[in-house]
Amino acid sequence: MKTQVYIETFGCQMNVADTERATTSLRKAGYDLTTSVEDADVVLLNTCSVRERAERKVFNRISDLRHASRKRPLIGVMGCVAQLEGDGIFDKAPEVDMIIGTRATDRIPAMIERVRGGEAAVIDLEERADGEFWDVSPVERHSPYVAFVPIIEGCNKFCSFCIVPYSRGREKSRSAEEIVAEVKRLRGLGYKEVHLIGQNVNSYRPRSLAGLDQTPGATPFCRLLRAVAETGMERIKFTTSFPRDFHPDIVAAIEEYPNLCDWVHLPVQSGSNRVLKAMRRGHTRDDYLRRVDAIKKSKRRLSLTSDLIVGFPGETEADFQNTMSLVEQCEYDGLYIFKYSKRPATPAARLPDDVPESLKKTRFLELESRQRQIQGNIYESYVGQTVSVLVEGESARSTDDLTGHSTCHKVVNFYGGSTLKGEIAQVRITKAKSNSLYGERLG
Ligand code: SAH
Ligand code: F3S
Repeated sequence: MKTQVYIETFGCQMNVADTERATTSLRKAGYDLTTSVEDADVVLLNTCSVRERAERKVFNRISDLRHASRKRPLIGVMGCVAQLEGDGIFDKAPEVDMIIGTRATDRIPAMIERVRGGEAAVIDLEERADGEFWDVSPVERHSPYVAFVPIIEGCNKFCSFCIVPYSRGREKSRSAEEIVAEVKRLRGLGYKEVHLIGQNVNSYRPRSLAGLDQTPGATPFCRLLRAVAETGMERIKFTTSFPRDFHPDIVAAIEEYPNLCDWVHLPVQSGSNRVLKAMRRGHTRDDYLRRVDAIKKSKRRLSLTSDLIVGFPGETEADFQNTMSLVEQCEYDGLYIFKYSKRPATPAARLPDDVPESLKKTRFLELESRQRQIQGNIYESYVGQTVSVLVEGESARSTDDLTGHSTCHKVVNFYGGSTLKGEIAQVRITKAKSNSLYGERLG
């Protein structure tokens, strides 16, 4: 019987994409993937370190997993915690056999062989080798209908609170030809939606712009967006956009190509100029609002979502009220709010984490409740409208209902049979819930 590998994935879409790559290279090397931890010979944890709580979870999970399997499996830690903590993990969790950095995903089979050959504490924190870029077999994708397509890896922004530039390294863009070819291949395989992903997609800078449209002044990302739209892929989403580099040509492209979806995720982090400066975001509140204005003024109604941090070092009540007023002004379709979490070795870690936890929580709840009201009104405004939904599966609440996402990236549930899975359905919205819409299928 083939060696059974079990992988558990935490964190962002980039980790999901890395797990897909790792799975592809493992299967190519003759391993089998299992969804049952009890049967696993090798257990891999693909980890997240963006906030302290996520990181702590990893160490709890390592000891659980060792006992969960009947076979005393090999244990490997992948992802951001692996990259950041390196061999320190062997000290903290001696049951770990392999530490697999964020760019070592394609070398996992070789690492497993080394451990089996008797080598202890195998570690690889190196860069990717050339030619190792994103070869994902379709059977390993997380969904048969939606595919994540990484276009850029790493981040050069160094926002003062953020660990990503350290865990994911410097920005490295994938070639446009390769991306376009992958999207065409996915389309041929019946995928209905792709997400172009990167920590900061607007920084996309391939070595060559050959094959992309040559409109003077267009940003490389926008050129890529147009080239991907030209493949005829039914729905194209992209995330994450960085405010300072979010160029209005993106809105123009969305207006021109109906298959570029009507959704922009544009994290702001704070509404206070003082805090934005300490966060080293490179944009002011007004810079951000100008971008939002361009999005709101579009001929298409574009859905807008964001990320926010409360309780950054030194955040005063006045700073917080500025964030609150920005949230009111932006009327987001969705908002992810985080309590500041000090990350070792980031510039902000040198500042005193002086907003007490209880105050972080109060601010979090206050913003959350205001956002709920705003979002409630936005969701209500969809009642009576028809949205186009990619049917992804049965709804968690009721097996009679199907669930999927609209082009504006809202969860939509509706009554229907399972034969619709993977199809695009036109759904007339009849009811708004706090984080989803409910409707009936037309036709
Ligand atoms: N540009 C990235 C951001 C990655 S982190 C992207 O692809 O989305 C995702 C979000 O986590 C950030 O936007 C920020 O709001 C939050 N975050 C990052 N570091 C944090 C920290 N130290 N404490 C609290 N929240 C944090
Ligand atoms: Fe992090 Fe800022 Fe980059 S939030 S991922 S350093 S854009």
